[in-house]
Amino acid sequence: MVLSNDLIKKLGICYPVIQGPFGGGLSNIELLSTVSDLGGLGSYGAHHLPPTAISQLIADIRGRTTKPFAINLWVSNRDHFIDGVSRRDFDAYSRRFEPLYAAVGVDLPEFTETYSHDFDQQVEAAIDAQVPVLSFVFGVPSPHIIRACQDKGIITIGTATTVEEAILLQTRGIDIVVATGFEAGGHRVSFLKEPEDCLTGTFALVPQVADSLTIPVVAAGGIADARGVRAAMALGAQGVQVGTAFLATNQSGTSAMHRDVLFSDRAKHTVLSRAFTGRLARFIENKAINFIEQTEGLPLRFPLQSYFTGPIKAAATKHNNSDFASLYAGQAAPLLKHHEAEEMFNSLIADFI
Ligand SMILES: Cc1cc2nc3c(=O)[nH]c(=O)nc-3n(C[C@H](O)[C@H](O)[C@H](O)COP(=O)(O)O)c2cc1C
Repeated sequence: MVLSNDLIKKLGICYPVIQGPFGGGLSNIELLSTVSDLGGLGSYGAHHLPPTAISQLIADIRGRTTKPFAINLWVSNRDHFIDGVSRRDFDAYSRRFEPLYAAVGVDLPEFTETYSHDFDQQVEAAIDAQVPVLSFVFGVPSPHIIRACQDKGIITIGTATTVEEAILLQTRGIDIVVATGFEAGGHRVSFLKEPEDCLTGTFALVPQVADSLTIPVVAAGGIADARGVRAAMALGAQGVQVGTAFLATNQSGTSAMHRDVLFSDRAKHTVLSRAFTGRLARFIENKAINFIEQTEGLPLRFPLQSYFTGPIKAAATKHNNSDFASLYAGQAAPLLKHHEAEEMFNSLIADFI
């Protein structure tokens, strides 16, 4: 079946498959360029990078593929006003993590006053570099940003966990909406209500969003093979965004240990937790999550919690210790079969070739 729809035309791609972005260092150019070169849309999660690194990243990506690709940023990258945390607060917080630091054999982190990069400057770097596609989570970018993207011919993608969020994204001029169900790996990227109140599954969310919008809708969450793509399209989506299944491939930026766990029986049980970052995300359960969930005063808000868990995750990953690493995974992980991104991609588009 040859497919042509508004999504494919807007993005300038051949197949309606977006490789979901991974924030925090798990994206990489190899996976992005593999998917873009095969006719999908490769993405790179860049919320953790300073603006100069984003400019360089886009130049590096252009050195690897001539096809369209997306850079992903977080509109809200800081909960409340956490930059005012004093040294005294910081020391008190750090004591709550001591058993975890002892478990993986690292020192408590140094005091800092800066925990995240300036979102507007990150966007400016991406727009100046004329990135083909900018995708956003955790909010709606300002009218100024949306206009600047339109002026430069940059396609914008917003992400919704509810119909209300999807409508707001369309009303503000976003080009494409990803409707993400609670099966998905990674964060629950809600922005109008607390994520715990936005737990609709993909099967219920996608048709409601498709019925409410006139712009293309992309389904995300729980899709890992051609059956999922078929179901998403039957529900009114024009394409899919797939995360966990690409994260598990050898081309992604995650560790071999994380990949092994994704293919193991442990992946049959995932939990939604704020333990690693302070924001709700889906993981394979482990000792770190259980410790943080049971410790009074934890988790802290985002990204303070990430600042404290960062060294724990890094040390655990380095020593192949899956008890204390962050094992992001969506509910579709037990469906995974493919270790190579090209095979994974081809299995998704099987109906279109
Ligand atoms: C480790 C991990 C990190 C993620 N980080 C981001 C991110 O920074 N920005 C974003 O838009 N989506 C992010 N996602 C969501 C994916 O891009 C995708 O929408 C989601 O994984 C789809 O659901 P699935 O995992 O069931 O395929 C992340 C997902 C995972 C598994």
